[in-house]
Amino acid sequence: MDITFDMFIETEVPEEEVIISRTDLKGVITYVNDTFAQISGYSPEELIGKPHNILRHPDMPKSAFKDMWDTIQDGRTWEGYVKNMRKDRGYYWVYAVISGVYKDGKLVEYKSIRSPIPREKRIEMQRVYDEMRLKEGDGVRAVMYLPVETYEKLKARAAEEEKSVERLIDDLL
Ligand SMILES: Cc1cc2nc3c(=O)[nH]c(=O)nc-3n(C[C@H](O)[C@H](O)[C@H](O)COP(=O)(O)O)c2cc1C
Repeated sequence: MDITFDMFIETEVPEEEVIISRTDLKGVITYVNDTFAQISGYSPEELIGKPHNILRHPDMPKSAFKDMWDTIQDGRTWEGYVKNMRKDRGYYWVYAVISGVYKDGKLVEYKSIRSPIPREKRIEMQRVYDEMRLKEGDGVRAVMYLPVETYEKLKARAAEEEKSVERLIDDLL
């Protein structure tokens, strides 16, 4: 995976605005309000017609979304903490309430309404989700400081073997 500095920049979600999106029954976006578009860094046109996982952040564990889909497909409301990835690869945290939209008693779409999360809770949820991904055997987030010499050696060796540093580390283990 490609990790760059801009991945670590957080966008603060405003307190006073509602952030709304709707999807069809498969999770393809059918509507977003302007606030949603602004926070995600996309224009509404770029989002409508795309699967909602366009915003998926690699820090989100698979099981969180499985639980979400199981709940809403069962006709219940799902509420939970979601870390999303912006178009510029930065991120933002929201508390999402997702449920069905009914027309004449028939389920036609899903809607999600989001609100900001206090900072302490975001820190706690980052730990919870890191732990969940580790247990699920999914990707683990490892941001580390290396001595410059070690990093230079890794880079030189990767260049020599014509591979990425990530690939080299994988091959060395
Ligand atoms: C109404 C609605 C809103 C959703 N909002 C988000 C969201 O903000 N971020 C996100 O990553 N997934 C969201 N999802 C879930 C995605 O559809 C998708 O399941 C998830 O990103 C995981 O991707 P995957 O199913 O390809 O593994 C939403 C789904 C629905 C039905």
